[in-house]
Amino acid sequence: MSKKENWPDEWEQGLIKTQNAMGVMFKELSPAAKAFVQYAKIATSPLLDVGAAYGATTIPALENGATVIACDLSEEHLSILRKSTDQKFIHNLKTLPKKFPDELHIENESLSGILISNVLHFMDGESITHGLRQCCKWLKYDGKLFVTVMTPHLSFYYQLLHEYEKRVQDGIEWPGIFNPKLVATDKWSDNLPDFVHLFEMDAIKKVVQQAGFTIDKIEYFCYKNYPDEHRTDGKEFISLYATKHSKT
Ligand SMILES: C[S@@+](CC[C@H](N)C(=O)[O-])C[C@H]1O[C@@H](n2cnc3c(N)ncnc32)[C@H](O)[C@@H]1O
Repeated sequence: MSKKENWPDEWEQGLIKTQNAMGVMFKELSPAAKAFVQYAKIATSPLLDVGAAYGATTIPALENGATVIACDLSEEHLSILRKSTDQKFIHNLKTLPKKFPDELHIENESLSGILISNVLHFMDGESITHGLRQCCKWLKYDGKLFVTVMTPHLSFYYQLLHEYEKRVQDGIEWPGIFNPKLVATDKWSDNLPDFVHLFEMDAIKKVVQQAGFTIDKIEYFCYKNYPDEHRTDGKEFISLYATKHSKT
């Protein structure tokens, strides 16, 4: 079994702070992350977990029999992930302290699935477009992409929803880019960069489809094990999974 006692303590309900002021790792899995873990049972090639943090999803995916490449900016996160992984599965884990997408050198058509959970909001539009196209190249034909993103319905971002909608009406290409420090509480402000990229359904759908994927399922959701003070209307996050249907 995994050794999650190596994880840092919860910072808020269900949330473990990152070591590099990049928000939190969610102990509960999103619908997309759960689907990634299920998919681990049948994946015939390695899976990639982008922004794996301490391994909330990587560990159960390993336990389900997959080989997992866990990538994160922070080697400290990955070191805790390795310590938290049962020795039985460690030979199926590869950790990469690298920045997605440009520092990753992955062979084309070598992966069965990729999870990007709560990471795209640190990236500008161009990097997201490029990153998702890279994912499409790295995946085998019929490979799966699993994504979780934050929306402007979340917590202190809710006050930005009107501005987001106005930008959509004005035809702004990436309407969800804000400085979170302008709206976050002091506690969260110290734990976030000064850039956040929020998505509503149309925007995330478009960029995933344009990268060469067919969307299988997309839904709004909110984590159950999550502080009430950050909930608004049940549309705080989007979860999606998609299939590569194009040739590389
Ligand atoms: C908000 S946490 C999310 C952790 C986990 N995936 C989840 O959904 O709970 C973001 C993680 O992604 C990592 N990260 C952010 N940008 C990244 C990038 N471009 N490449 C690799 N890792 C990144 C951070 O270091 C951090 O551990």
